[in-house]
Amino acid sequence: MKVLVIGGGAREHALCRSLSLDPDVNALYCAPGNAGISEVAELRPVDALDGEAVARLATELGADLVVVGPEAPLVAGVADAVRAVGIPVFGPSAEAARLEGSKAFAKDVMAAAGVPTARSYVCTTADEVDAALDAFGAPYVVKDDGLAAGKGVVVTEDRAAARAHALACDRVVIEEFLDGPEVSLFAITDGVTVLPLQPAQDFKRALDGDEGPNTGGMGAYSPLPWADPKLVDEVMESVLQPTVDELRHRGTPFSGLLYAGLAITSRGVRVIEFNARFGDPETQVVLARLRTPLASVLLNAAQGTLHAEPALSWREDAAVTVVIASHNYPDTPRTGDPIEGLAEVAAEDAPDAYVLHAGTRREGDAVVSAGGRVLSVTATGSDLAQARERAYKAVARIRLDGSQHRTDIAAKAAERR
Ligand code: AMP
Ligand code: GLY
Repeated sequence: MKVLVIGGGAREHALCRSLSLDPDVNALYCAPGNAGISEVAELRPVDALDGEAVARLATELGADLVVVGPEAPLVAGVADAVRAVGIPVFGPSAEAARLEGSKAFAKDVMAAAGVPTARSYVCTTADEVDAALDAFGAPYVVKDDGLAAGKGVVVTEDRAAARAHALACDRVVIEEFLDGPEVSLFAITDGVTVLPLQPAQDFKRALDGDEGPNTGGMGAYSPLPWADPKLVDEVMESVLQPTVDELRHRGTPFSGLLYAGLAITSRGVRVIEFNARFGDPETQVVLARLRTPLASVLLNAAQGTLHAEPALSWREDAAVTVVIASHNYPDTPRTGDPIEGLAEVAAEDAPDAYVLHAGTRREGDAVVSAGGRVLSVTATGSDLAQARERAYKAVARIRLDGSQHRTDIAAKAAERR
């Protein structure tokens, strides 16, 4: 099978790594990719937001499957453009990707499907904003309706700050604050059949102890030793299947990866958000644990034949990933700094620990930083404590001027053993 992956972050590196290990895959391309992905896939330049260009590239390469990684191309209709030239694509249509692209749309789908989520108001005027803020009280949760690359959500005790964020957006969702640990649960679906993956936990804040600003995600681990073993079944029944059914009934079936961001509250599981693609950095740890070869599962989802897939098989291992971010992330990250120590990790720590690249590029013989999140150092082990130890040992070998990373990824969960 010839596979083309669209995107160029650590999530796409994790996808390409898994696909490169799949005996069914005999040619693997990534566009535009990054310095690390070039070691497992052939890179092609492309504007990932240009559906026509992506479809042309897929046709030229004779791709049997296109996998669209990030949300922006999905919302822009890249999967539709590829489907239009008759090539199977893993990723939802622009219509179905509105589940991530519009928080108000997601709320409407959840209400219709009876999916538990925070109570909310959609507001477009200052009066509506004030009424909603007063109705829920502090802590305030204000979400830009549209895609905002992780920066659209403000959670604050400060009413003035909440109001200012709301008024800076055209349309906002203001909602009830949800208390309790967060879980990311992914499911692969063809629009009818839903195949859940294993849950993971992401660390959204920039600094240790969940301090500092929100980021795209600074680390993740899986499995969750503290979670109820029935969690996946429960979320399948109350969230994932009803959402997929609702979108199909609306005539806009969702095929691809449905990401449920959940809060485990004292009153039960609630959806915080949906995404229409694999999460980053959670994918790095979930795929590290997946035993089933990935390509045929993604192809079956793309072709509407997922019912033919048996349940996924998982390793006993635990996995931890630690994100190394550039100086000044998430504000205005500095780029162009050389990264050293990659060869040492490959020589000393592989295969238990390895480096997935996010924002990197080659400059002559050097690899330099090219984005906010630069590397996602991933490790497996017999338990979280061992995976964590291996991940941080590899992190310590990496040298990137001014870089930052959290030191407490999976720490609490590992202590529970
Ligand atoms: P989102 O971009 O929707 O994932 O939101 C970013 C982060 O804001 C989430 O991971 C949560 O930590 C937090 N958040 C979002 N909605 C709520 C809510 N209703 N209650 C508490 N925290 C929330
Ligand atoms: N890790 C959060 C996200 O992918 O949206």
